[in-house]
Amino acid sequence: MMDFQGKKVLITGASRGIGRACAVQFAALGAQVAVHFHRQHEAAEATLDRLPGQGHFTIQADIGDPQAVLRLVEGSVQGLGRLDILVNNAGIWRQHPIDGVDYAEWQAAWQEILAVNLLSVANLCHAAVPAMLRGGGGRIVNVSSRGAFRGEPISPAYGASKAALNALSQSLAVHLATKNIYVGVVAPGWVETDMAAETLAGAEGAAIRAQSPLGRVARAEEVASAVCYMAAPESAFSTGAILDVNGASYLRT
Ligand SMILES: NC(=O)c1ccc[n+]([C@@H]2O[C@H](COP(=O)([O-])OP(=O)(O)OC[C@H]3O[C@@H](n4cnc5c(N)ncnc54)[C@H](OP(=O)(O)O)[C@@H]3O)[C@@H](O)[C@H]2O)c1
Repeated sequence: MMDFQGKKVLITGASRGIGRACAVQFAALGAQVAVHFHRQHEAAEATLDRLPGQGHFTIQADIGDPQAVLRLVEGSVQGLGRLDILVNNAGIWRQHPIDGVDYAEWQAAWQEILAVNLLSVANLCHAAVPAMLRGGGGRIVNVSSRGAFRGEPISPAYGASKAALNALSQSLAVHLATKNIYVGVVAPGWVETDMAAETLAGAEGAAIRAQSPLGRVARAEEVASAVCYMAAPESAFSTGAILDVNGASYLRT
């Protein structure tokens, strides 16, 4: 039975989707949560309203900005009093097919996607690790994607960002294990969130659902459960692991 009683958690991108589902589950299991958002303050407040327990709060930052990341971690540690668990969930996906965008758009897509999906996580970890060490250890869970393994034909920067995120996570898992900081990854396939809504509602929706023998995509809560597991004491020996949540739509060997 997972128990996060008294644990202090920062979840990026908790205003919506998977991040919101994580916030709800961590809080239900006893944690105090810093609910991070970027632009959607009202949505973040709506997340806050759903959290059982006390002491949760919202906190804003554009994680693509390294200075904002420092303020985010500092503000979270101040508000929580300590930092035990960091969930790097916030991310962006957008189309930029190599033969469909001009060079300027190509540059912009790579820079923005890598800044938000990859560099932000490196920066968040750099800022959070000292706080975790002060508390005697901690957990980092990074939300990656099936796209890291099977490719992202029309969003290659997204696929690359998530593959690099996996490599970053595994490097940190090895380096930090002896310091009592464990690092895990959750790699979902398609999930019912705003990020996927337009595609799932469109002509491709049925084919995407058929990729899984379950005939559907994931619910955000199913991904959140995997995130909680990777942050729990029970999964300590799984540090460095990448947990697939893709309904057997893509099986790695
Ligand atoms: N949905 C899927 O099919 C799917 C599949 C595989 C992996 N994933 C991964 O799962 C994670 C969560 O995705 P989701 O589907 O829940 O996404 P979502 O519903 O689109 O929500 C994205 C979250 O990220 C935040 N965010 C976006 N840009 C940001 C920035 N520059 N700085 C700070 N925060 C920013 C948003 O904040 P605001 O609300 O304030 O804008 C929001 O909370 C992502 O890493 C994504 O790559 C999703």
